[in-house]
Amino acid sequence: MSAMIDTPVDTPARSNEIVTLQAHILQQQSRYPEASGQFSWILSALAISAKMIASHVRRARLDDVLGTVGNQNVQGEQQQKLDVIANDILLRTLGGREGVAIVASEENEEPVILRTDDSAERKYCVLFDPLDGSSNLDVCGAVGTIFSILRKDRRSPDPQASLLQCGAEQVAAGYVLYGSSTVFVLTIGLGVDMFVLDPAYGAFIRVARGMQIPKTNKCYSVNEGNRLSFPEGYQKYLSWAQERGYSSRYAGAMVADVHRILLQGGVFMYPPTRKAPKGKLRLMYEANPMAMIVEQAGGKALSAPGERILDVRPTDIHQRVPVIIGSSEEVDQVAAHL
Ligand code: AHG
Ligand code: MN
Ligand code: MN
Repeated sequence: MSAMIDTPVDTPARSNEIVTLQAHILQQQSRYPEASGQFSWILSALAISAKMIASHVRRARLDDVLGTVGNQNVQGEQQQKLDVIANDILLRTLGGREGVAIVASEENEEPVILRTDDSAERKYCVLFDPLDGSSNLDVCGAVGTIFSILRKDRRSPDPQASLLQCGAEQVAAGYVLYGSSTVFVLTIGLGVDMFVLDPAYGAFIRVARGMQIPKTNKCYSVNEGNRLSFPEGYQKYLSWAQERGYSSRYAGAMVADVHRILLQGGVFMYPPTRKAPKGKLRLMYEANPMAMIVEQAGGKALSAPGERILDVRPTDIHQRVPVIIGSSEEVDQVAAHL
């Protein structure tokens, strides 16, 4: 890990300074005098996208954009109207940034090549899940956006192939949680920082730096309805945890479930099931970015015992992977049962 967490958790109340996401990005950029600024512009496109999507999510019921559009996405899942709106917002904001060469989304079968020339200026790929947990929208539940940023591999003539890098190569990753507040969690490989949208000013304000996930907490997060179709080791783990008084928490949106675990500790899992033998979650824009965040916060993220998610070599941008992610001791306990 390239992580170097230079400042422990630091709240505005203690330090007395107010730092917006924009100011934070510029502060980080100033640490790299050779930086062209392209990367910072990409992060700012993600921040404005988050504000725009948040405003649509808040108005979803009023604007009648709940429900499906009648199409299935590439994964055979119903596209919700807001999935399409959020995808469009991200494509349009990132499309305006010179530093973005390729974007890949859960909602687009093929990556979208924004710029084909190989100039040194156009050097990043952005992968995203525009709206995670979108079926929660119909019940005003929490939803999110997940993103991963890779450097474009200029050795590869095929733009799609340049996307197929391990998660360990990510230069940045993050998510936005549209919950009771809109929260932006970001890592650029220097620890994890958290920002909350102040609706009065329309700015993300930094509320925590160098976040550290608790090493242990007796809490698991998994769709237990699938229990009987999990591999035996997961079933044994669940019995083990229940005998020890663990709590179960499951929102049905990875962003919301992993966010709780980042703050309070525990383990989130999406195991293989009969219906989804490789698990349900997508490696490139769900598992990898969440794994980078959790590892940067001192936790663990495995696809199987001894197999880091970040080391999985991708063969397809939409491939799925089993996920065990969270507090180091809790992830170890799951792995020990498998
Ligand atoms: P998406 O809405 O982007 O397709 O993702 C939903 C995912 C993930 O957020 C969540 O953890 C999982 O699906 C829930 O799946 P189950 O309903 O099978 O538990
Ligand atoms: Mn998702
Ligand atoms: Mn989605």
